[in-house]
Amino acid sequence: MDELPSLVTHAQDLARELGFPLTREEAEPGSASASLPGVGRFLAVLAAGCSGGLIGELGTGAGIGTAWMASFMPDDCTLITAEIDERLAVAVRGLLDGDPGIAGRVEVITGDALSTMTGRGQFDLLFADSGVRDQADFGALVSVLRVGGRLVMDDVTPVLALPAPSPLRVSDPKRQLFHGEPRLAWTEVVLPERFGRARSACPGRQGRRCARGSSRTATVGARPSPLWARAGHPGYG
Ligand SMILES: C[S@@+](CC[C@H](N)C(=O)[O-])C[C@H]1O[C@@H](n2cnc3c(N)ncnc32)[C@H](O)[C@@H]1O
Repeated sequence: MDELPSLVTHAQDLARELGFPLTREEAEPGSASASLPGVGRFLAVLAAGCSGGLIGELGTGAGIGTAWMASFMPDDCTLITAEIDERLAVAVRGLLDGDPGIAGRVEVITGDALSTMTGRGQFDLLFADSGVRDQADFGALVSVLRVGGRLVMDDVTPVLALPAPSPLRVSDPKRQLFHGEPRLAWTEVVLPERFGRARSACPGRQGRRCARGSSRTATVGARPSPLWARAGHPGYG
C-alpha cells in the first residue's frame, strides 16, 4: 500500500479546492486540518478488519480519513461520517457519490457528530476527530463501541517525544480522556512519516518538512471483553 488509494488523492484534491488545510502547518493556529497519510494508513488497517461492521467518523473535514477507511473496509461494512460544516459535508457527499464502489456504503451526515453517533447502534471502529474534549462526551462514545471495538484519536504526542518545557508533558487533554475511561484498554502509537501528496502541499516551506511529530501519532482504545470486567477492574460498566 505504498501508493495512495485513488479516493484519498481525490479527497486531497477536494481539500485543496475547498481550502481545507492538509497539514497543521497550513492551518491557522487552533483550527482543523486533515489526517496525514500515516494516520490514514492506520485507520485503513483497522477498517480492513471490520467485517460486517459499522464504522463512525466524527468530523469529516474534506473526507480524507473517510476516504482511507472507505477504501479498505470490507464490502459488507458501512461507514457513517458526520460534519457540522454543511459546505464540507455536501462536498464530501459529492466526492463519494462519484465512486460507484463506495456509494451506498458511506453516509455523510450534516450535523453534530456526537449526537449522530450516539443514536446509530454499536460501532466496530470510531475515529473521534471533531474535537471531543469532554470526559462525559468521550464516555458516551465508549458506550456505543461494541466489545472488541476500537476508538481512535490522532495528534496525541508521546510524552518522550515532547520538548522538556512542553505543558503537554504534564497533561494532554486527549490523553486524559483515555486515561479517565476505565472501560478502555488503550495505547499510543507513533506512525511512520509518509506524506504522499500532502508533502508537496506546504506553501512557502521549500523542501522543509511539512508536519510536526505531533501530527504523526494516534491513541487507540479498545473495549475489552466482559471477562476483563469480571476480573474485577474497578469502574468497568
Ligand atoms: C480535524 S478535522 C477532520 C479531519 C478529517 N477527519 C480527516 O480525516 O481528514 C475536524 C472537523 O470536525 C468538524 N467539527 C467540529 N465540531 C464538530 C461537531 N460538533 N460535529 C461534527 N463535526 C464537527 C470541523 O468542521 C472539521 O471539519
